[in-house]
Amino acid sequence: MPVSEEDRMEQIQEMIQRKAADIEEILKKYLPRETGLQRTVLEAMNYSVLAGGKRLRPMLMQEVYRMLGGEGQEIEPLMAAIEMIHTYSLVHDDLPAMDNDEYRRGRRTTHAVYGEAMGILAGDGLLNLAWETAMKTFFLGGQETQTPAGKADYMQRSARAVALLAQKAGVYGMIGGQTADIEAEEKAQVSMEQLLFIHENKTAALIQAAMMVGAIMAGADEEQIRQMERCAYDIGIAFQIQDDILDVTGTMEELGKPIGSDERNHKQTYVSIKGMEASAKEVEQMSREAMEILDSMEGDSSFLQALTASLIHRRK
Ligand code: IPE
Ligand code: IPE
Ligand code: MG
Ligand code: MG
Ligand code: MG
Repeated sequence: MPVSEEDRMEQIQEMIQRKAADIEEILKKYLPRETGLQRTVLEAMNYSVLAGGKRLRPMLMQEVYRMLGGEGQEIEPLMAAIEMIHTYSLVHDDLPAMDNDEYRRGRRTTHAVYGEAMGILAGDGLLNLAWETAMKTFFLGGQETQTPAGKADYMQRSARAVALLAQKAGVYGMIGGQTADIEAEEKAQVSMEQLLFIHENKTAALIQAAMMVGAIMAGADEEQIRQMERCAYDIGIAFQIQDDILDVTGTMEELGKPIGSDERNHKQTYVSIKGMEASAKEVEQMSREAMEILDSMEGDSSFLQALTASLIHRRK
């Protein structure tokens, strides 16, 4: 009996959920134990990371790694690290000085529960733990190849991956985008160029890091790494436009975070500038472009394509 489109979608959703649950187990291995006099900050860190979340960035990293022939566990510390960085960015994004939001991932935000000072410190803690965790890659890998040249090659790949993650998370990536996002609140007019700068940096940069790190660690060639950068740009911009759409059309129950945050903070978004219909079209088109790039790659990209397609009409 042929499988209907509905059944296929359901199967893919199940696969996505299974993979997210596996990622959660990996994350737990690297999260801190809640002991010592600094216990409050450790609790706040675990509270924010283990609140759920789609785990999209580590999922993309792992799937690109596999698509391009990566097989080992060496990718795991980097998967945990990127989710820690992403989560810290959310904890800080929700602070009163930034978007001032009280709900995230279906629960009260970290600062709402632990206070603002702990919200700041938990974010700082996660960012540092991310680097400590990412560095574990150096000690894990290259086991399959014991030759000196193989080891040196592994070390080089790891160094490049960690450096790229740092760059895309920093002032030339996510933090840069968040800076422009906050400053744009005061502007009467935001041009498309400025908006794309914001989207590219605050959101696409970490998605690029995810996919490029997966490629680098798999030993991909320069062209493949560049393809992943382009593909992740498309996915990232589409993802943020859809986030802006859901801030208007979503529900708190589905999203786990408040809607109307953008309007309250005077954010100009894709939706406020271009309108709902054009925004939805853009999400679809950019996602299709990303899927075409994936389709052109060697290796089995079927899951990554299905994952990208599932983001087009996501409700959370
Ligand atoms: C939210 O990211 C912030 C944006 C970049 C739009 P996600 O939508 O991936 O949040 P979680 O991780 O699933 O909570
Ligand atoms: C935030 O964008 C992107 C980050 C780097 C955290 P938003 O401010 O739109 O994200 P949400 O809607 O609060 O998740
Ligand atoms: Mg924000
Ligand atoms: Mg926000
Ligand atoms: Mg948003």
